[in-house]
Amino acid sequence: MLIAQLTDCHVTAKGTLALGAIDTNTALARAVAFLNRLDPRPDLVLLTGDLINGPKPGEYEAAAEILAGLSLPLRLIPGNHDDRAGLRTAFPAAFPAAVPAAGEFLHQALDLGPLRLLALDSTIPGRVEGTLCPARLDWIAARLAEDDRPTLVALHHPPFPTGIGFMDAIGCANGDRLEALLRRHGAVVGVLTGHVHRAIAQSFAGSVGFCCPSSAFQMAFQPDPDAPARWTREPPALALHQWHPGQPLRSHVVPIGDFPPTPFG
Ligand SMILES: [Fe+2]
Repeated sequence: MLIAQLTDCHVTAKGTLALGAIDTNTALARAVAFLNRLDPRPDLVLLTGDLINGPKPGEYEAAAEILAGLSLPLRLIPGNHDDRAGLRTAFPAAFPAAVPAAGEFLHQALDLGPLRLLALDSTIPGRVEGTLCPARLDWIAARLAEDDRPTLVALHHPPFPTGIGFMDAIGCANGDRLEALLRRHGAVVGVLTGHVHRAIAQSFAGSVGFCCPSSAFQMAFQPDPDAPARWTREPPALALHQWHPGQPLRSHVVPIGDFPPTPFG
């Protein structure tokens, strides 16, 4: 099982730049081309939110046009820059299963054979921070209770502090409640997130919590809790998560670009 994680693409309307400086649309097009030529091919591309930079008019249309070139199955959960209705209308043509058609939250429980993937909607419309409110915790608890298979969890906002103070200030409420549910299940192989625009791995819920870097731009490593928000041009990247029955999750952070394997000698 190989799952490619793409996150925080921040696509803008055609002819505009994110933060007035970053061509995020070209960055996503490069990510799509990179994913299409991967060998071995991923079983699934999981996009963990902030597909667009607004929400503003024209952004989902631009994103859908770029993603239509992706030749792999795609599933998507929202981030704080997304819009649930916009996501629901953006993908029916190329990826009818990318987001659920109905329901308040864009949760998905995916059956990947020996592995289960619970993709959670942690967003609050109009807000940058996230939450796992009682209704969402109930949904997660029910999904965990109905199946004891190894389970991978994904959501946009890390349900744990990351040590990047200006991002933790807009983190996810009730992460401790999620942690308790996951510990009780006992077969959680990992918790995949976005939002922080950095590659971070840390212990969480008896498993690993993972933050995927952005396909477009990264946040600066500023461990001082009072450090101001800063972004950087560290390379765009994605993650490749390998999992096989009886083995731990192995997560590779891979810069997006043309880096062909070269023999020694
Ligand atoms: Fe983001």
